[in-house]
Amino acid sequence: MDLSTTYLGLNLPHPLMTGASPLVDRLDLVRRLEDAGAAAITMHSLFEEQLLLERNARYAAFDEHAESFAEALSFFPNPDDYHLGPDEYLEQIRRIKAMVDVPVIGSLNGATGAGWIDYAKMIEGAGADAIELNAYLLATDLSEPGASIEQRIVKIATSVKQAVTIPVAVKLSPFFTSLANVASQLDTIGVDGLVLFNRFYQPDIDAETLDVAPRLQLSDSSELLLRVRWLAILSGRVRCSLAATGGVHTGLDAIKATMAGANAVQVVSALLHHGPGQLKKIREELVRWMEEHEYESLAQMHGSMNLLRCPDPAAFERANYTRILQTWRV
Ligand SMILES: Cc1cc2nc3c(=O)[nH]c(=O)nc-3n(C[C@H](O)[C@H](O)[C@H](O)COP(=O)(O)O)c2cc1C
Repeated sequence: MDLSTTYLGLNLPHPLMTGASPLVDRLDLVRRLEDAGAAAITMHSLFEEQLLLERNARYAAFDEHAESFAEALSFFPNPDDYHLGPDEYLEQIRRIKAMVDVPVIGSLNGATGAGWIDYAKMIEGAGADAIELNAYLLATDLSEPGASIEQRIVKIATSVKQAVTIPVAVKLSPFFTSLANVASQLDTIGVDGLVLFNRFYQPDIDAETLDVAPRLQLSDSSELLLRVRWLAILSGRVRCSLAATGGVHTGLDAIKATMAGANAVQVVSALLHHGPGQLKKIREELVRWMEEHEYESLAQMHGSMNLLRCPDPAAFERANYTRILQTWRV
């Protein structure tokens, strides 16, 4: 079965890769991921706040903004709480690159363009084959219009693209008024891929202690549908590659993402839950399904369910919406 695909210009034997996660912090797990056949490995992120903390510590005595920085940064984990500091992170990329034969994708995670873009160059220097830029932010400023936030993300992506020669993907949130337009803007500046979507880890309130209680809940397959919808809308309309992240747990999930237009399919929760070997199981399920349905290659199904041939995706979407509401009978 020919499962080959191209993602970010990288030729992959199949679309199943690991998304950004702490699995890369341990070399024995990285080895097991490669043994399970991961087509590529994404590093967990280097976070903007982590990099600013480091810079802040270095220049605290000279930096007139040090105090306000320090206050904002006090909400974040301490430097020691990050699994790997910035130098160790770069060293971990070098180690992983020396150990595995598959592409390794570095990850930068931030919401402003200030002072941390240099790390893109260092990630490239450490041997990464591509960079995934995670623009994770929640727009909470009552005075900032959406267009200004979008411009900021496009500006960060432009800076990273200018800083490196390796391919750059942008991992996005689904919460834009016009996601299609944001995708198109990023495509136009030459971003090599879009990774759909970030999950939002919604903190709970502890009503007894009046604390905010962060919770990490792993995904399930139901989360895939939002990704499938947007893959289907964007596939064939943007030049760059598309990857699905969020809710891929089975071979059938990977098939749906591929039919909608994903060039690559990232898996994290399933691997954290069942271990790295689960990736092999998902690939076997994928192949079995394709054999049963007489597909000969992944290329045959890629984008087969996208909305490229739909003259008016917005009308299609509204038709689905009105139809589904009529299915409930009381
Ligand atoms: C424990 C954990 C750590 C993660 N760390 C990162 C990270 O450093 N950077 C990032 O972009 N995404 C991170 N993610 C998000 C995943 O890459 C992925 O997008 C998300 O889990 C959805 O995929 P899934 O449904 O397969 O889990 C993390 C997820 C988990 C569960």
